[in-house]
Amino acid sequence: MKTALVTGASSGFGLLAAVELARQGYVVFGTMRTPTNRLALDKACHAARVKVEVLPLDVTRQQSIDACVEAVRRRAGRLDVLVNNAGIAIGGYFEDQSDGEIREQFETNVHGLMAMTRAALPLMREQRSGRIVNVSSIGGRVGTPGLAPYCATKFAVEGFSESLHHELSCDGIDVTLVEPGTFPTDIFFGNRRTAEAATRHDGPRRARFVAGERAMYDDMQKRNPDPKIVGETIARAASEEHPALRYPVGADAQAATWAMRLLPARLWHFLVGSRFNVKPEPVSFPLPSGPSGERAG
Ligand SMILES: NC(=O)c1ccc[n+]([C@@H]2O[C@H](COP(=O)([O-])OP(=O)(O)OC[C@H]3O[C@@H](n4cnc5c(N)ncnc54)[C@H](OP(=O)(O)O)[C@@H]3O)[C@@H](O)[C@H]2O)c1
Repeated sequence: MKTALVTGASSGFGLLAAVELARQGYVVFGTMRTPTNRLALDKACHAARVKVEVLPLDVTRQQSIDACVEAVRRRAGRLDVLVNNAGIAIGGYFEDQSDGEIREQFETNVHGLMAMTRAALPLMREQRSGRIVNVSSIGGRVGTPGLAPYCATKFAVEGFSESLHHELSCDGIDVTLVEPGTFPTDIFFGNRRTAEAATRHDGPRRARFVAGERAMYDDMQKRNPDPKIVGETIARAASEEHPALRYPVGADAQAATWAMRLLPARLWHFLVGSRFNVKPEPVSFPLPSGPSGERAG
């Protein structure tokens, strides 16, 4: 029986991937920071008639990581698939994101993912096999206004995973990337976060951020993509005999991947900017004073 460990399985892609892997016959450990939040996972497991074992895990705490991987070793004796899915996003233009907010995104999305990988590798090396599926984003290929630090974390995940893929490919351990476009999961609703400073002023930067966010929500609502396909793609990346390095998933991610390949770079960047209603000219500094220190309109 193959064993899989999925981080961030309390909601969204992690929950869907855990259930899909269990449906495909894996012994699945689904992790979450607060195991009492397991109701949604339990309901999904009940509906699919599968079992996922829940383990506590905070990917930003080394003690928690060690205890989690040790629990998998004790209970299953092996780890075939690690799905590094846990992640957070904080919206807001760069200048409105505090150092703490940026660090928190890097701690979770990059350092947490690396720490989980480091903890899982000894088990995989003992087995001389394993698969690491890193959940990146199309935001790891395309910079999006209003999400600069988040995109920076995902660009980091892309570079790390591509390098690790080469480092481990001779040792029977595969590293793959799943790159979802925009899907309606809790990251946009219950877990949605906006940089504190971005909520405190009312200048042109905030207006652009709000307009860009609205365009993204409108587009998502219009397309209404089913996050289930991301869970299925994660399971495919985990089990395909010869996995691809990258799995873009969702119509928007596929379109962006092709457009980047086919369009001249200047045209592509112009299209990304206009999609989010971002005026090409930068905000000028120093800013004349207003109630918030920003130029109005
Ligand atoms: N939805 C999208 O459109 C989209 C697009 C591209 C990429 N992604 C990526 O997909 C992944 C999953 O996101 P989602 O959309 O499914 O959002 P979600 O429903 O908010 O799920 C995020 C998960 O990460 C977990 N998490 C957050 N911080 C954690 C920490 N410190 N330690 C352990 N777990 C932590 C949360 O668990 P608890 O809070 O319960 O602990 C939650 O289960 C993320 O990496 C995200 O960047 C999402």
